[in-house]
Amino acid sequence: MLTSVLSFTPEMAATVTEYCTEVSDDVTPEMNELWDWTCGQFDDADKMSSPLQGATMMFLATLLKPKRILEIGCFTGYSALAWYQATKKTQAEIVTLELDPKMIAASRRTFDRYGLNDRVRLVEGPAGDSLKTLSGQFDFIFVDANKEGYEGYVKYILDHGLLSPQGVIMADNVFARGMTISTEANPYLPDKVRAYWTENGKALRKFNTFCKQDPRVDSILLPVYDGVTLIKWKD
Ligand SMILES: C[S@@+](CC[C@H](N)C(=O)[O-])C[C@H]1O[C@@H](n2cnc3c(N)ncnc32)[C@H](O)[C@@H]1O
Repeated sequence: MLTSVLSFTPEMAATVTEYCTEVSDDVTPEMNELWDWTCGQFDDADKMSSPLQGATMMFLATLLKPKRILEIGCFTGYSALAWYQATKKTQAEIVTLELDPKMIAASRRTFDRYGLNDRVRLVEGPAGDSLKTLSGQFDFIFVDANKEGYEGYVKYILDHGLLSPQGVIMADNVFARGMTISTEANPYLPDKVRAYWTENGKALRKFNTFCKQDPRVDSILLPVYDGVTLIKWKD
């Protein structure tokens, strides 16, 4: 294949997602319950990771066996639940950052309901401030909050050595629904969110240039989901 992505209509994307989800590992019953609850409670539930992304998180966590995980952007705690359940054997410590009081309350409900409080710590407030309160190193860092913050978060993490020597940073939504690549890249994007994602796209273009040019790291932008960047220290 000469290109790295297939061209999908929204209908094809839905069919492909359904097929991949069906033939991939199932997520846990608790994750399914939380996913359904979130969809029923929040108009912006599309901020939550999909079940296939949840299965990917579990796969990566069991593969990489991180001892400490940092997550920037908690929402209702779906990804935190995935990290928690996939690290039962290794008992990883999970720190998750969230700003919005409504989502803090929803996440705390998740952590209480599924008994996550022994290993998950929610740090409330703007991630830029919360990062400054952290010490030690993290083996896996999931960046999934405000898109204009990505460059600053990753720069801070690298400058302050918060990523362990073998650690991986995974940044989500780097395509900004396609707007990072070009404002013409996604004719299916609804008009009501186009301006929002166009702004995010500008910030993420800068983020991508930063990742490519920072001599300390290797990075790769994978055309999966809404674009996922993986970053590690250079060997
Ligand atoms: C895409 S959602 C996270 C989804 C979650 N990680 C998951 O996989 O289900 C992004 C979250 O980041 C939060 N957020 C936005 N800006 C933030 C900031 N400056 N600091 C901390 N959290 C922020 C939002 O309130 C939202 O809950």
